[in-house]
Order: sequence, then C-alpha cells, then structure tokens
Amino acid sequence: MKGIILAGGAGTRLYPLTIVTSKQLLPVYDKPMIFYPLSTLMLASIREILIISTPEDTPRIEELLGDGSKFGVELSYAVQAKPEGLAQAFTIGRDFIGDDACAMVLGDNIFYGNGLNHKLMDAREDAENGKATIFGYYVEDPKRFGIMEFEKGEAGERSVKVISVEEKPKQPKSNYAIVGLYFYPKGVSDMADKVTPSARGELEITTLNDMYLQQGILNAQLLGRGYTWMDAGTFDSLQKATDFVSMIEQYQGMTISSPEEIAYHMGWIDDEMLAKSVKRYGKSPYGERLKAVLEGKVII
Ligand code: TTP
Repeated sequence: MKGIILAGGAGTRLYPLTIVTSKQLLPVYDKPMIFYPLSTLMLASIREILIISTPEDTPRIEELLGDGSKFGVELSYAVQAKPEGLAQAFTIGRDFIGDDACAMVLGDNIFYGNGLNHKLMDAREDAENGKATIFGYYVEDPKRFGIMEFEKGEAGERSVKVISVEEKPKQPKSNYAIVGLYFYPKGVSDMADKVTPSARGELEITTLNDMYLQQGILNAQLLGRGYTWMDAGTFDSLQKATDFVSMIEQYQGMTISSPEEIAYHMGWIDDEMLAKSVKRYGKSPYGERLKAVLEGKVII
C-alpha cells in the first residue's frame, strides 16, 4: 500500500502569507501543517509515501522532512508543475504507485479522533481488496464542497452505500462533504488517465470518484461526532485549526499528529532515533512532549 500527500496548490486564499512559502509549511499551532496529513497516512500503517508539491516548495518540504527515516517511513518527492487538479496526483505518481493500492491525503487536511486508525485500516484493507473509499463529514455549507449522497445504513456499520458524488453542487443532495482523504485500489493511475478537465479546467477528484461509483466499487465511511476534520486553507479555518489543536494539546497534555510519536508507538523507530528528534527540537513544547514519550510517560 502506497500513500501520496498532495501538498502543492497556489494557496491564493492565504495571500500574502503564501506568496513566498508553502501553505503546507505554515504552522498549525506547534507544528507545520504537513505533519498532520503525514500522521494520517502513518496511522493507516502506510510507510512508502510520495509528497507532491510545486517546483518552488518541494525543496523546502524535503528540507523539513528529508528521506523520512526520522519518522520510520520512506519519503520520496515529485513536482506538480501547475495546480491542475487533485486527480493529477495519480498520473504524476504512476511509477511510485506501480501495481499497488494507493491512498491520498491533501496537504492542508487535518483529521483527529479516537479510533481513526481503525477506520483508516478498514479503508486500506478494502483498497487492497479492489475497492475505493471516500470519507464523508457533515458540513453546514455543502455548496462549497464535493458532496456525497448515500443510503442511510444501520448505526455502527462499517460503510454506507454511495448514490452520487457531485462537485460544489448548486442544489446539494446531502450535507456530507467528501473530505481530502481517498483510498484507491491498484490501477488508479490508469483510471486517472481517463479523467478529462472540468469546466474550471481541473482534473477533478470527484470525476475519478464517480468512475469508481459507476463501476460499483466505491465505499464511503462517515466521520461522525467523534471525529474532527478541518481543511486549513483559509484564514478562518487556519485560525480555527490552530485553536483546536492548542486546546486539545493543552487540556490533554499530549501531542496531536506527531509523526515521530506515531512512528515510535508503531515500533518503526527506536529510542535512539527518537532521542535524536527530542534533541533537535530542544526546549520547544513539541520537543518537551516528545521527551515525555521517550521517557515512557505517554502510553497511548
Ligand atoms: P485548494 O485549497 O483547493 O487549492 P489551493 O491550495 O491552491 O488554495 P487556494 O484555493 O487558496 O488558491 O487545494 C487543496 C489542497 O490540495 C491543498 O493542500 C493544495 C493541494 N492541491 C495541489 O497540490 N494541487 C492541485 O492541483 C490542487 C487543485 C490542489
């Protein structure tokens, strides 16, 4: 199973912040934004990850994350020359993906919730067994999102049956947004080849999802009340994400979405490797909390 973090884009809604830096390198409270999607893929136990960004930002992201060894994963990098749409990630990533199933997370999407790893592992298993998975999250303003219509299932069911997917519908058929996390079975690059540009000139992920729907191999999982999803792409949502993370971390005294911590709990890095990160981060709150993990104080 492979994973892609799509971390390019223009970031125009955050101008002037993103004129000389990547949106994905901006802080969400105590860590760079890209730590969050990286953690999400790691929670799905994905260790081979491709990061796609702009020609300008890719070297900066690589400077931050390196080859992934400090997170116990293998990171590689590719450039998207222009932000021509989310589905393009799978054609850019064709060689990387090879004959495997592949997940993709957007670089500005933050997921949090107890048991998220189980949902992710279910999606992973389904992708490895030939099915795609999208995730739905209740929103109050559905006209702004890709929206899924689905059959109401039994409470606690693993997935719901999707009836339709629509990009920014004028008359939304539900209030459930399709969030920026997708799991596809092998062959996704060939499928993405068939996506043609939309009226706004982008290779839409909704078009790709619709192809899986038409083939009858699209699942959806709902992220209910126990989960938080945020896309940190506007000033308002970036501020809210920062407030959310600071509140959780200060109340619980634990870090959300620390790739080093996840790697350590997964057994992908040893004490020595974690100690190096603790030293690198010094006296920052992030470093101090990682130190507590190294000292065995944080168990889960
Ligand atoms: P968006 O928020 O839709 O676009 P953007 O980041 O360019 O920002 P703005 O609308 O303010 O100009 O993108 C969602 C995520 O996907 C974000 O992390 C950037 C990434 N992205 C790409 O990497 N390539 C693309 O072609 C697109 C459309 C988005």
